[in-house]
Amino acid sequence: MAKAARTSSRRKPIRRIAINTGGGDAPGLNAVIRAVVLSALNEGWEVVGIRDGYNGIFRPEDYPDGGLVPLNRSRVRGITHLGGTIIGTTNRGNPLKYPTKMPDGSMKEVDRTDDLVRGLQDQQIDAVVAIGGDGSLTIANALAMKGVRIVGVPKTIDNDLSKTVVTFGFDTAVSFATECLDRLHSTAEAHRRVMVVEVMGRYAGWIALNSGVAGTADAILIPEIPFDLRKVATKVLRRAGAGRNFAIVVVAEGAKPKGGRRSVLEKQLGAAERLGGMGEKVALALGQMTGKETRHVVLGHLLRGGTPTAFDRLLSLRFGAAAVRALASGRRGVMVALDPPTVRYVPLAQATKRMKVVPLDCDTVETARELGVCLGD
Ligand code: F6P
Repeated sequence: MAKAARTSSRRKPIRRIAINTGGGDAPGLNAVIRAVVLSALNEGWEVVGIRDGYNGIFRPEDYPDGGLVPLNRSRVRGITHLGGTIIGTTNRGNPLKYPTKMPDGSMKEVDRTDDLVRGLQDQQIDAVVAIGGDGSLTIANALAMKGVRIVGVPKTIDNDLSKTVVTFGFDTAVSFATECLDRLHSTAEAHRRVMVVEVMGRYAGWIALNSGVAGTADAILIPEIPFDLRKVATKVLRRAGAGRNFAIVVVAEGAKPKGGRRSVLEKQLGAAERLGGMGEKVALALGQMTGKETRHVVLGHLLRGGTPTAFDRLLSLRFGAAAVRALASGRRGVMVALDPPTVRYVPLAQATKRMKVVPLDCDTVETARELGVCLGD
């Protein structure tokens, strides 16, 4: 039987909550949505999903359903294993830096969170579960500061949030990248080639490092360790000298050469810069330096698609249920975090303060070195 709506310590009772999925999608989003919906229904609350980040609030006229998707038991049936998000997402139009046309015709980034707060009130939304990475959780924190009852759920394949042991989506991305490295080994060996594999991760090297070590790459280049390509070339040539005439090099999209820059594809108003292209650059230079035939592969958005691993599904379901538990017990302005064997809550302000990059003294880096993997330094 549905429990009666519980009263928050400081506010009126919750009757209607909204779910928002923001930023790049990650495997497990739908599992979180399902857990939030079922747990919220159990509390006696109504649940809606905001379409495409906060676009459903900002631009309801763009959607035949008015920008809000009613989420009931049947709507979330059979979605736990599905990639993507049934309510849509966007990493454009950050409400804190909303691209807005000025009277002189120029475009400027404008803080539109007040409009967003009003929009949520107009829709009689008493609380929000915001599922996102650093960008979306920074927005959630700004909304919390303006009085919105909001709880964050940490999502990102990049695993770059410092206050949770891991984010959901990361395990799936690493598992898929590792499988790709396994597949590339055989073709690299058959053709005696150097295969350079670029993976996502933005400014953190977690995906590259973990998949590279698990997939037994010969070199791994991560943003945290600016690389000297001569070191990688030496490694490749040494292997060839020892009869191993092929090599696998994993390059994080945010990696950069010593004294050089990251490879940025574009920067648009209201959006983060888009990285990419370092894999191709490394492949070209390595080919010239070693005289070996070299190919590059960009795994890119493939890392974000597909079925979440069992680890990510379970984590997502736990996070979703914990977010509703937080709201039901009167918590707000917090993010759900994994702290094995349990989940805990950390203030949103802390959750977004510092990016979690790979510490150079972590044991995975040490392991890589001990196994003879070249890290480009
Ligand atoms: O943050 C997740 C992520 O997939 C990053 O790894 C990557 O840099 C970025 O999003 C790509 O964003 P987009 O979907 O805009 O290409």
